[in-house]
Amino acid sequence: MRLVLSIDGSVLVPELRPQQLKAYADVITTLTEAHDICVVTGGGAPAREYIDVGRAVGANDIELDQIGVDVTRLNARLLIAAIGDEAVPTPAREYETANRALRRGDIVVMGGTAPAQTTDAVSAVLAEYVDADRLIYATSTPGVFGADSNTCTDAEPFDELTPSQLVSLILDRDVAAGSSVSIGLHAARMLRRAQCETIVLDGGDPESVRTAVRTGEFEGTRIVPGQERRFSP
Ligand code: UTP
Repeated sequence: MRLVLSIDGSVLVPELRPQQLKAYADVITTLTEAHDICVVTGGGAPAREYIDVGRAVGANDIELDQIGVDVTRLNARLLIAAIGDEAVPTPAREYETANRALRRGDIVVMGGTAPAQTTDAVSAVLAEYVDADRLIYATSTPGVFGADSNTCTDAEPFDELTPSQLVSLILDRDVAAGSSVSIGLHAARMLRRAQCETIVLDGGDPESVRTAVRTGEFEGTRIVPGQERRFSP
């Protein structure tokens, strides 16, 4: 199976400590015995800290995004170091580079690519480009929720959504101040275009990714494309 694994910065580097990076590296290395894997790393708290300081010293939004991209690539470098020789030594900066490495059977890790998006969109584009069989979002929430799980304590995640339902949900939630969904609108629109089964799970414990790939079992939301292929984003 060809997999794209998107690891939120909030679960990869909840704090800048080696244990979680090593645990993810171990999961990725063992899964590579049976699967081809591309990994996309998010920025997490370090990216937010850099962006906050950048804003305070007068950087504009594009400059702040570029700072964010750099931090996602730093996290990619840390994960590459934790994986060791089986990983391509440098984070891929372009989808083509990632695809070439994947086809050689190498483990490829990349961060962001360009301003004005987040790495969940990068992961969706990559999944479409490499024709992935499955895209896994390892996030800090156990799936996609109908209500804000931070403010609504009895909120439950959806078991299954179509990409169009996900887009509608995000648009509805965007109008509600302060609420957000674990996948961004741009990513959801890309998912609507890509024919790739997607799962959103709580990646706080990297073992949940290993279990999801090996057994198909996970707690979270499955985003299943129906007859929606080739909607334009
Ligand atoms: P993330 O992908 O980590 O954003 O990129 P996020 O979803 O806000 O962070 P999490 O989910 O809490 O970890 C960090 C920042 O880097 C910039 C954006 O500013 C983003 O907020 N970025 C990232 C880009 O501009 N382009 C990219 O391709 C990736």
